[in-house]
Order: sequence, then structure tokens, then C-alpha cells
Amino acid sequence: MKLFIDTANLDEIVKTDNMGIICGVTTNPTLLSREGHNPREMAAKIADRVDGPVSYEAVLLDAEGMVKEGKEIAAMAPNMVVKVPMTTEGLKAIKRLAELGIKTNATLIFNENQALLAARAGATYVSIFIGRLVDRGVDAIGITRNIRMIFDTNDMDTEIIAASIRNTEQVTQCAIAGAHIATVPYRVLMEMVEHPLTTAGIEKFMEDWKKVSDK
Ligand code: G3P
Repeated sequence: MKLFIDTANLDEIVKTDNMGIICGVTTNPTLLSREGHNPREMAAKIADRVDGPVSYEAVLLDAEGMVKEGKEIAAMAPNMVVKVPMTTEGLKAIKRLAELGIKTNATLIFNENQALLAARAGATYVSIFIGRLVDRGVDAIGITRNIRMIFDTNDMDTEIIAASIRNTEQVTQCAIAGAHIATVPYRVLMEMVEHPLTTAGIEKFMEDWKKVSDK
């Protein structure tokens, strides 16, 4: 499973990119609003800094508007991906953008049928919102496993992005369930680095090393 970072914060993107752990970025209007800058300028900076895909959400809700926005987003940088909400208008926009060779990320996916429809319309990615489902007591990991099975059975190229990740355990479970990508907040990525036995192991090695280092 590949890892993207779910943020619009350039500092977090640079830090994780320097560690070699991410190969893409997903943003949304909420994440961009937190940064308080012009969203398109922010996205252009992000796309310039990373090699991989950068998802940026269309905010008009009619197909025609989303296609117009999508063309503008795609023109910002070669690695831009247009995030399109899972609606009838969104599906029309995904189809049109796919015909134009523009990559799309169908967002706000909550079940297998929505994922199937988005993939059939031509979405490059479908983003299933794991955390928001789990918050409501739904088996989001089971749904992810089913979507992967449906895509594989039908030879569909659309990749599954596990989004709305709340903790490290969800990352592991999404990887086992067959998500192609997890887009993970910075805090969770940093928690994935750590294990108390790693910290204790380093301390012990350093302590023992001091006993012989000046001999
Ligand atoms: O980018 C979409 C998704 O990751 C949002 O997550 O935490 O708002 O449910 P969250």
C-alpha cells in the first residue's frame, strides 16, 4: 500500500517527503482553509514540491462547473488530480474529465456501490472515508476489502484511497484489506514511526556503547 499525506500544510509535506515515506498529497477545502492562504497558490506550491499526485477539490456542484474547474486545476501542474464529490453531477464531471485525460479522485465515498459507479465513470481514484464510517459504527475495513474484490474481479484500474484515517491501527487494517493507498494525517504518520521498544533499544545500545567507546 502506498502512502499519501492528507494535509495542505507545506511544512508537513516537506518533512514527510524528506523521509521518503509519501508519494502523494490529498487536500480538501477544510484542510486548505486551515492554512489561511490562497488555496490555488498553496496547491501550486505543493504540486511543485512533490513528484506524486496532488488532489485538489472542485467546489462547484454542477457538472459543467466542475469540468471547467477541473480543467483549470489540471492546468496548474502536471501532477494535479481533480477531487470530485460522489453525486450524479460529480459522475458526469468524472466521465468528461476522464475523456479529456484529466485524473480524478472521487471523494466522499461511503460504500461499495458508490465506488463501483465512480470507477465505471472513469475515476482514477476513489476515496473511502474510513474514519467517518467508523465514527458511526460501520465496518469500513470490510467495505474497503469488498471494493478491492469488486475492482479486481472486474479488472478495474481505479485505485482505492483509504481517507479520513484517525489512527495507526486503521492504516494497518486498510493495508491488509487491500487499499492501494492510504492518505494519512501528519500526526498519524509520526505515530507510525514510533515503538516503545525501539526507543528503549536505542537507549540501551547508547548506554552500552558509552562503556567501551573511550577504551
Ligand atoms: O481528505 C478527506 C479526508 O481524509 C477527510 O478526513 O478527518 O475530515 O474525516 P476527516
